[in-house]
Amino acid sequence: MAILVTGGTGYIGSHTSIELLKRGERIVVLDNLSNSKIEMCDSIKKLSGKDFKFYQVDLLDKPEVERVFKENKIEEVIHFAGLKAVGESCEKPIEYYHNNITGTLNLVDVMRKNGCKKIVFSSSATVYGDPKTVPIKEDFPLSTTNPYGSTKLMIERILTDVYKSDNEWSVILLRYFNPIGAHESGEIGENPNGIPNNLMPYINYVAAGKLDHLNVFGNDYDTHDGTGVRDYIHVVDLALGHLKAIDKARKITGVEAYNLGTGTGYSVLDIVKAFEKANDIKIKYEITNRRPGDIAVCFADPTKAKEELGWEATRDLEQMCKDSWKYTKNNIK
Ligand code: NAD
Ligand code: UD1
Repeated sequence: MAILVTGGTGYIGSHTSIELLKRGERIVVLDNLSNSKIEMCDSIKKLSGKDFKFYQVDLLDKPEVERVFKENKIEEVIHFAGLKAVGESCEKPIEYYHNNITGTLNLVDVMRKNGCKKIVFSSSATVYGDPKTVPIKEDFPLSTTNPYGSTKLMIERILTDVYKSDNEWSVILLRYFNPIGAHESGEIGENPNGIPNNLMPYINYVAAGKLDHLNVFGNDYDTHDGTGVRDYIHVVDLALGHLKAIDKARKITGVEAYNLGTGTGYSVLDIVKAFEKANDIKIKYEITNRRPGDIAVCFADPTKAKEELGWEATRDLEQMCKDSWKYTKNNIK
């Protein structure tokens, strides 16, 4: 009996795999390595002290997904695998829809055929679009503004329909806010390809001298200092949320969505200051135009996850900044 972790060598999947193994769960990891490296398997084994089976398999290759289920008794699936860059999804919508939607349809069909009916899915706060108020609750209206976000919302709907057709399914939709940080060892973390799009990796590149300065995208938002506000969450806290989600999926049938965030919003300049203080490094920045598609404020109401999953984030912003930098300074080339 094992949990299948799709996308398990990626940023969030690797941290979650370590926590699952540390708890004594048996896992099987599947990844096509399109955005991660095989060496991650060794890091996961080292940091957890446990072994697991890895399959380099693409979810688009259905016979291979079937083989994974034939060779292992899979009881639950945590589904991280997918493409995740918002900008790229606007340039390559067909690739994004195909990879994320077809990949999920293949997975869910193979699960169904093998009587495996418990899934935890990596969704995103992006499904709330531009919320009218904050903090955001799970029952807020859903909408999307880019193909990446649309794949997340479509997959949420597909999984909901799967449950409606067969009430034995357990579907847990985890809507992540902004994951940052890295494993406390400094051995694994986020390793974006090329120039980072997201704030924390970008700040790390500036700190490492790889980029000259941070462009702060707008200081005329309706926020305490005019810069955009987000709910940043430590990746290990996020990983631990998946363990609680698996516990829930084992207990109930149905479809439940949970916000995984801290409930606190920080502005871009708050993050710059916190990074500088935590790591004693000056971050040069310039104010530039707003980034198209950005919203002013986004942070979670995480009460439902606390009450129903018994989960809440415990790592603070200082720890997120320290762990991010510890990983980057050790690993940036
Ligand atoms: P990641 O790119 O580091 O990990 C995703 C993994 O999936 C990669 O290792 C990649 O090789 C693999 N993959 C992609 N397509 C595949 C396919 N067809 N078959 C097999 N493997 C495939 O991304 P991450 O940051 O760890 O995100 C994990 C999940 O969480 C994604 O679904 C992402 O959309 C979602 N999410 C991420 C964030 C974030 O900010 N990182 C926020 C909200 C939601
Ligand atoms: C991004 C994704 C979103 C995804 C989320 C998860 C985009 C448009 N959205 O959200 O779909 O769910 O990550 O982590 O990519 N900023 C700067 N300068 C930079 C980079 C960012 O000022 O160089 C600002 C942004 O304007 C924003 C904040 O920093 O206010 C956070 O940006 P980012 O890390 O890219 O995350 P989101 O845009 O919230």
